[in-house]
Amino acid sequence: MSHHTLYERLGGGAAITAVVDDFAARCASDSRINAKFARTDIARLKAMLVEQISAATGGKVQYTGRSMSDTHRGMQVTAGEFDALVEDLVATLNKFGVADASQSQLLGILGPLRGDIVEVESPATGTPLPDSYQTAPPLATV
Ligand code: HEM
Repeated sequence: MSHHTLYERLGGGAAITAVVDDFAARCASDSRINAKFARTDIARLKAMLVEQISAATGGKVQYTGRSMSDTHRGMQVTAGEFDALVEDLVATLNKFGVADASQSQLLGILGPLRGDIVEVESPATGTPLPDSYQTAPPLATV
């Protein structure tokens, strides 16, 4: 383990932005999970993911989005959908050649958020976003 932060080992802000772009595109084309993003402001989502990953890995960036429980409450995300999203993230990290140790460290940071995100302990995937779910305001209005 080097003394550099995970943020630095991932390649810093530009690399994390590229990772999030690829990851978001993978989620958008993954029929196991893309129904959940039907009403999402994708520009906001990508900006918030870059902030969150940067802040969580030691970058000098502040996360300005909502908490994971507020964000995902009422979305009815299943265990199967959570696993599918993690699979998509790992595929992106592999594409970018992120070392196994760095991948494990990142998943070790994000994994514990599962309890704030998964509402349905079922292997089902492709479940719809409930009509009652209220999306975040677009970034421009924040
Ligand atoms: C560790 C896993 C996850 C992390 C770290 C994560 C992180 C985030 C973040 C940072 C946001 C933006 C919050 C904001 O706009 O204030 C967000 C939004 C969102 N997430 Fe997740 N998420 C995870 C898992 C999932 C899963 C499994 C699903 C569904 C398959 C999901 C669906 C969504 C959707 C639909 C939005 C947009 C909400 C809106 O329209 O306002 N997320 N997530």
